[in-house]
Amino acid sequence: MYVTVLPTGIWPRPPANGVSLSGAVPGGCQHLFRYGRDALWSGLLLLGLEAHHEVLMPASNCEVVMLPFVKRGLSIRYYGLNGQFEFDLGEIESRIGPQTRAVYANHYLGRPTDLSGLRRLCTDRGLFLIEDCAHALGGADQDGPVGQKGDIAIFSYRKFLPFPDGGGLRINIPHSGEVPESGAASRLVTAGGVFKSLTLALAARGLLPLAAWKRWRADMDAYLTCADEIDAADWVAPRQISPYSKKRIAGTELEPIINLRRENYRFWQQNLTSLRGVMPLFTDLAEGQNPFCFPILSENRDQLVQAMAKRGIYLEPTIGPPYRNIPKLGNPDEPFPVLEDIAARMLSLPVHQSLVRGQLEFIFQALQETCREWKPS
Ligand SMILES: Cc1ncc(COP(=O)(O)O)c(C=O)c1O
Repeated sequence: MYVTVLPTGIWPRPPANGVSLSGAVPGGCQHLFRYGRDALWSGLLLLGLEAHHEVLMPASNCEVVMLPFVKRGLSIRYYGLNGQFEFDLGEIESRIGPQTRAVYANHYLGRPTDLSGLRRLCTDRGLFLIEDCAHALGGADQDGPVGQKGDIAIFSYRKFLPFPDGGGLRINIPHSGEVPESGAASRLVTAGGVFKSLTLALAARGLLPLAAWKRWRADMDAYLTCADEIDAADWVAPRQISPYSKKRIAGTELEPIINLRRENYRFWQQNLTSLRGVMPLFTDLAEGQNPFCFPILSENRDQLVQAMAKRGIYLEPTIGPPYRNIPKLGNPDEPFPVLEDIAARMLSLPVHQSLVRGQLEFIFQALQETCREWKPS
């Protein structure tokens, strides 16, 4: 069996009462793209962000989020987060400078971040708020669904749904109705995405020796090593979503998917406490939260990832340390010890809706055996 934190089913498990095929797009996005990063690129153009503008960003984001900013030549200044991925409003305010034009905020790992104070701050100071919902599809807090407080919000459907592509842009400010720049969907990209989904689905059912192949290629090292550099040359021009994914995303009912993911999250909550050497990053599962994964911390994270990969289970770190080697980064040398510590110790257990109880137990047993053999250094 092959297990990742991403969905491996070829179609979301249908709810008992059937799947509506004409529903609205989850998240209320008006524009769909190949990926979330493409939606972000269009959003930056729509907001009119130019090279002399600065954006305040959390000090941990993946390469593909940073790339549109770097490609557009924008200045970036990091702000910190605490151990629960929450920002300090006062700290963000203290970092606003004469060039600051926007603040970027994430709902990390599916936990809706309270953006009401930041929304007020951005409005008062004439700044745009860019809301990243890539980890939080369908999530909500006491104020309502995520994606409604930012001037724009981006989504990444393909992280939750087993489709070859899918990113979305929700625009909450008045605009002309046109969204800038995205090329037509590429049949080649779609075919590649379908191939990937099918490969993962077959490997998850034990019908394809993907884990053995990855081990042979020593691929798990790629999960753990990442060059500290964002190079605009790696940027790929944005494209629209494939017609295949567009049709399916618009028909997806999220509620049964969220329920299954929450059930899987609770499996980990109940079982993990007995394991030596690992601890959950969060103790709660807030109402309205659609979990992205079940994050755990381990002092020997890299060894754990390697040991689990030997058993066919590919666990991702998910959260990386701040990229420092970025052109026009305002605070490249500032330490962010909390995020750096989490980035060194965290890995994600899967909660995706296509996992059944027997598969979760298989992963848990592998974790148990690994932790039992554990000889802390
Ligand atoms: C927090 C976050 N935002 C946005 C994205 C971009 O999504 P996509 O991969 O669909 O471009 C990612 C992707 O890894 C992400 O982790």
